[in-house]
Amino acid sequence: MTPEEFEFLSDLVRKRSGLVLSSDKTYLLESRLTPIARKAELGGIPELVTALRADVNGSLASDVTEAMTTNESFFFRDKTPFDLFSNTVLPHMLANRPQRKVRLWSAAASTGQEIYSLAMLIDDCAAAKGWAFDLLGTDLSREVLERARQGMYTQFEVQRGLPIQLLMKYFKQVGESWQIDAKIRGMATFKENNLLEPLTALGKFDIIFCRNVLIYFDQPTKKMVLERMADMLPEDGCVLLGAAETVVGITDAFKPVPGARGLYARNPEVYAANAGSPASAASARPAAPARQPLSAGLSKTA
Ligand SMILES: C[S@@+](CC[C@H](N)C(=O)[O-])C[C@H]1O[C@@H](n2cnc3c(N)ncnc32)[C@H](O)[C@@H]1O
Repeated sequence: MTPEEFEFLSDLVRKRSGLVLSSDKTYLLESRLTPIARKAELGGIPELVTALRADVNGSLASDVTEAMTTNESFFFRDKTPFDLFSNTVLPHMLANRPQRKVRLWSAAASTGQEIYSLAMLIDDCAAAKGWAFDLLGTDLSREVLERARQGMYTQFEVQRGLPIQLLMKYFKQVGESWQIDAKIRGMATFKENNLLEPLTALGKFDIIFCRNVLIYFDQPTKKMVLERMADMLPEDGCVLLGAAETVVGITDAFKPVPGARGLYARNPEVYAANAGSPASAASARPAAPARQPLSAGLSKTA
């Protein structure tokens, strides 16, 4: 790949998704985009670049962008954000929403494991019975959203982070795969959305999970997205970020909640009472899933 081709492709991907590709990613671009070129019956990267120059906004440009993004996700990923949700965020919402309605957004939802992990926690929470939880999952990629809607996961995917009790309670086996049950699927809706575009059409939320996507953006883009998110939250709203992400040094729109790693709030003192002391939230806390992972030897017909 010539430096000009690299420059053109990395610029296209950055403008469309926010993903910043440094020049040491030439090999990655080549290995992911050569199959896209072949599928489009183009000879290789030079022909792909020529076709994209002729139509920078067509479906080929979407295919190129989606091929470069990372869609990896798994149930209860990193555990802590889900403990914080159960022990700190949910008790606050249950005590402070007299209309008994909560809106939650999983931005960059990928194949749905994050939003369905949250839906299972809510379903398991006795204090949340009778409440209206509106869960929205969005992503740039249509393909991952289609998989999320189906709620169908491979044996490998349900073996990553999902406690066996929850597998047995909420999934049924369909051939070689496992499908999450209709009640949990019905709690979430999914919509295509690009975080680089104005977000106001999505409405207002109480809680935003935005994990493992900002890490790919440059600083000004992280700042823009976080500040737009702050405008979509009430004074006591919060955002949960990935383990390698933070607001510190990027924006003052959110502040870290002391003792609650990964939880950022417009007003952190709102969560101070429940942060770092799970016992204080015991009355509203859903039964935390046992952290026993699925054994590697679990029978496919179990
Ligand atoms: C690594 S996954 C994170 C999934 C989940 N949040 C988690 O932490 O497990 C990142 C997702 O971000 C999506 N993405 C990348 N750039 C995006 C953008 N500009 N707007 C919306 N989604 C984007 C990708 O399509 C991908 O599905």
